[in-house]
Amino acid sequence: MDRPIPFIDLGAQRDRIRDRIDAAIARVVDSAAFIMGPEIATLERQLSAFSGAAHTLSCGSGTDALVLPLMAWGVGPGDAVFCPSFTFAATAEVVALVGATAVFVDVDEETFNLDTANLRRAIEETLAAGQLVPRAVIAVDLFGQAADYPAIRALCDEFGLKLISDAAQGFGGTLDGKMANEWADVVSTSFFPAKPLGCYGDGGAVQTDDAELHAVMQSLRVHGQGEDRYDNVRIGMNGRMDTIQAAVLIEKLAIFPGEIEARNRIAERYNAAFAGLVTPQTVVANAVSTWAQYTIRVPAGLRDGLAAALKTRGVPTAIYYPKPLHRQTAYRHFPVAGNGLPVSDRLAGEVISLPMHPYLDAATQDRIIGAVTETLAELRAEAA
Ligand SMILES: Cc1ncc(COP(=O)(O)O)c(C=O)c1O
Repeated sequence: MDRPIPFIDLGAQRDRIRDRIDAAIARVVDSAAFIMGPEIATLERQLSAFSGAAHTLSCGSGTDALVLPLMAWGVGPGDAVFCPSFTFAATAEVVALVGATAVFVDVDEETFNLDTANLRRAIEETLAAGQLVPRAVIAVDLFGQAADYPAIRALCDEFGLKLISDAAQGFGGTLDGKMANEWADVVSTSFFPAKPLGCYGDGGAVQTDDAELHAVMQSLRVHGQGEDRYDNVRIGMNGRMDTIQAAVLIEKLAIFPGEIEARNRIAERYNAAFAGLVTPQTVVANAVSTWAQYTIRVPAGLRDGLAAALKTRGVPTAIYYPKPLHRQTAYRHFPVAGNGLPVSDRLAGEVISLPMHPYLDAATQDRIIGAVTETLAELRAEAA
C-alpha cells in the first residue's frame, strides 16, 4: 500500500506554531486560571474584530452555541424551528433539547445548503397545519459554504422568525465579502479540533449584535446567574470554554485568514482537475468557502467501490452524511417539508469527501487526484 495520506493534517499546523501554542498553554497552566482566565475575554474581543460582530460569547462547544440562543429566546414546546436534514445531528438536536419541534427542510442540489423555496413551503405548511408556532430558522454553512443568507433573511423577516447561522463548518466564510452576522441574528460556531478553526478539545462561540441577547446568553452560560452570582435568575447550564482552549485559539486565529486562502487554492486545484469528471459542491459566485470538507458527488453505485479502492491506495475518504437526519432513529418522527426531501436523500447516497486541509502540498494532492481519476475510470469501465 502507498504511504497513507492524512484526511486532515493537524500535525502540520502544530509544527508551524508549536512554540507559540506551547508557550500559550504553559502561561495558562502557570497562572492556574483554568476557568474564565483573561484569555477568554481576549479571544472574545478578537473574534468580534475578526467578523465585525458587536458581541462574542465563547462557550463549551458548537452545540452549546446553538442551544444558548434558543434558550435565551424562550423557544420551547409548541414551537417550530426549521433546519436542513442534510447536516450534522447537533443542528436539530438543540431544537429537541429545548422541547421544540425541528421541521426538516430540503437542501439545494448544487450548494447542499437550505433550499429557500422548500423553506418557504415548510413554513407555510406549518402555519396551515396550525399545530406549531414558527419561531426560528437554523441555516447551516455546509462544508464551509455560507447558506443563502440574503434570501433566508428575507423569509425570516416576512414570517417574523429568528435566524441562527450554524457556522460550525463555515465560520470565516463570506458572501459578497460579508460574514453571516450581516444577516443572521446569531452566528454559532464550533471549535472542534477538525473544524477550520479548531482548538485542542471542545469549544464554541456565539456572536450577535444584540446586546440584550448577549447578556442573557452570558447568564445562561453560567447556570443562569444574576448580578449576584448566588442568585440564579434563570435556568442555565455550564457552558464555559476552558481558558486553555481560548489560549490555543488566540494563536490559531492569527494564522486563520491565511489558512482560508490556502484551502481555497487547494479547492480550486481539485475543481480544475475534476472538471467534467465528478460533481463537486458548487460554491456560489462572490462566496468564499472555508472548505471544512471538499466533497464531490459520484453515482451512488460507484461510491463504495471508490472509497474502498482509494483506501488501498492510502487515500482516506469520509461520507458526510450517509443518512439525513429525517431518516435517523431519534429524528424520524419530526415533520418534514411536503416534498419529502428527495435531494437530501440523493446527496446522502452520492457524496464523498476527500482530504482537505491548508497544508496539503501539491504532490500529495496530485496523488489524490490521480487515484480518484484512475479509480473512477476503472469503475466506470467495469460498470459499462
Ligand atoms: C453543522 C454542525 N453543527 C453543529 C456542530 C456541533 O459542534 P460541536 O461538536 O462543537 O458541539 C457541528 C460539529 O460537530 C457541525 O458540523
